[in-house]
Amino acid sequence: MKQQHRKLLSAARLAMKKAYSPYSKIKVGAALLSDSGKIFCGANVENASYGLTICAERAAVAVAVAAGARKFIAVAVAWNKKGQVSPCGACLQVLSEFCAGMEVITAAGGGNITVRKLSDMLPDAFQIQLSSPRRGED
Ligand code: THU
Repeated sequence: MKQQHRKLLSAARLAMKKAYSPYSKIKVGAALLSDSGKIFCGANVENASYGLTICAERAAVAVAVAAGARKFIAVAVAWNKKGQVSPCGACLQVLSEFCAGMEVITAAGGGNITVRKLSDMLPDAFQIQLSSPRRGED
């Protein structure tokens, strides 16, 4: 595994520990790598009104965008369960807004690391073509 993937996964695992998930007890952490080499992390935040829950990946996107980052190379996702974790469809759609070609790095609890392309996981994302201002430039 690339050193960069390993680093991103450990950032996701650290963020996972901060999850607020008293209802599901599922902790998810996400770490986004921007084109400038910076890492932005998020964790899932649940709510007593369950539908208001924010996923880790979308929390990480909000953190990154608020810091001025809009172009991403990869995202790593970790959770506190044994099986393979995969971002939900809503998160794939939100991630694809910023970079459909990014790598999605996930790991099963015990080890097995998977690297996939976001565009393979969500090949036909909903899109609206913007002429001006273009993404990342407004
Ligand atoms: N969750 C995420 O954080 N990311 C996903 O991609 C799917 C699900 C969280 C939301 C909720 O707190 C818990 O996992 C169980 O659904």
